[in-house]
This record gives sequence, structure tokens and C-alpha cells, in this order.
Amino acid sequence: MNIVKDHIGWIEVICGSMFSGKTEELIRRMRRVQIAKQQYQIFKPTIDDRYHHKYIVSHNKSKLGSVQVKSSKQLYESVRKETEVVGIDEAQFFDEGLVEVCQKLANEGKRVIVAGLDQDYLGRPFHPIPELLATAEYITKTLAICTQCGNPANRTQRLVESDEEILVGEKDIYEARCRKCFQPMGEKK
Ligand code: TMP
Ligand code: MG
Ligand code: ZN
Repeated sequence: MNIVKDHIGWIEVICGSMFSGKTEELIRRMRRVQIAKQQYQIFKPTIDDRYHHKYIVSHNKSKLGSVQVKSSKQLYESVRKETEVVGIDEAQFFDEGLVEVCQKLANEGKRVIVAGLDQDYLGRPFHPIPELLATAEYITKTLAICTQCGNPANRTQRLVESDEEILVGEKDIYEARCRKCFQPMGEKK
């Protein structure tokens, strides 16, 4: 029985701490889109310069072709009319306009899959993910493993001193922590 009528769009959000498998999950969903032979495009913000510019890459190195865009406006303008599924990685680095852009794309009948960090290095909501969570039809929270105690982890510990909310990095300056082991800078004794 097919309960999805017409070409209705929707928003899916995949969020969690670093090393929790967000990009991995986005790639998994997009591979199924490929198998279904649907038209898709994947975007990421220009700011994420960790890996090759033409791919989204998970921590365990699986990757899929993507296009870098400077803003949510440029993202919207880059989406082709015939595209059925839009994937977006590192969404926390986009401007606030991303929420409206995702809404518009979903209203146009597209499936929008967005992955990003829900909390920053202090455990504060990382905008615009909270606003996307409020508007999404489907939400997946991914958990990492705490590097200190092995419990499920939903926080990201920054290991270097910096007050910047945006600080691109990997295992060298971040690790996953559970709420018990998480020690945001400034609260350290
Ligand atoms: P990831 O979610 O794919 O692991 O990548 C998260 C990126 O976000 C990584 O480059 C580090 C960066 N980041 C910040 O800029 N500020 C933060 O507060 C945190 C926790 C991560
Ligand atoms: Mg990632
Ligand atoms: Zn822990």
C-alpha cells in the first residue's frame, strides 16, 4: 500500500555530536537515493575545508560527490528544477537563511536531508540546527562513544583554548564526551 500521495516534500534532520556518524548516515541515505535512480544534489558550506572540496567525507572516510556553496541563497539558486532529493552536510556552518531555503525546497516537493552539529563546544544549541529541528518532519539524533568512559556521547569536547564558535578541526582538537565527562572550557577547575 502506498500511503505517500503525490509529490510531497519534507525535511529530515540528522544531528548529534562530532564522531557520531552524521555524514555516514547522510551518505547511507543518499546511496539508497542513487539505487532508486532519483535525481539528487549534495551541498556543503565553503567553510568546511577539512577534506577534498568536491566530496562530503565521513570520519571513517566514506565519501560522496558534493558541491560547495557560500551561502543558503547560493544553495537555493544551485538546486535544479528536476532534483528530487537535496542533501546538505555541515549545516551548522550555514547562515540563518538555511531554514527558509529548506522550507521552500520541501514546499516545492523535494526531500531535503540535512546533517549537522546540534551543539557547539560549550553545549549551546548550534544555529540554525535548532530551527531546522522545529520545522523538520523527521529527526535522527546520532550518538558517539565517550572517549573517557565508553558511554553513549552527545557532546563535543574542544581540547584547545578558543572562544570562537567556529573552529574547524578533527580528532586533534575535538573528542566525543557523554554529559558526565563533558567539561566545557571555562568550567574547568
Ligand atoms: P563533523 O560534525 O562532521 O564531525 O564536523 C564538525 C565540524 O564543526 C568540525 O570541523 C569542527 C567544527 N566545530 C566548530 O566549528 N565549532 C564547535 O563548537 C564544534 C563542536 C565543532
Ligand atoms: Mg561530518
Ligand atoms: Zn563519559
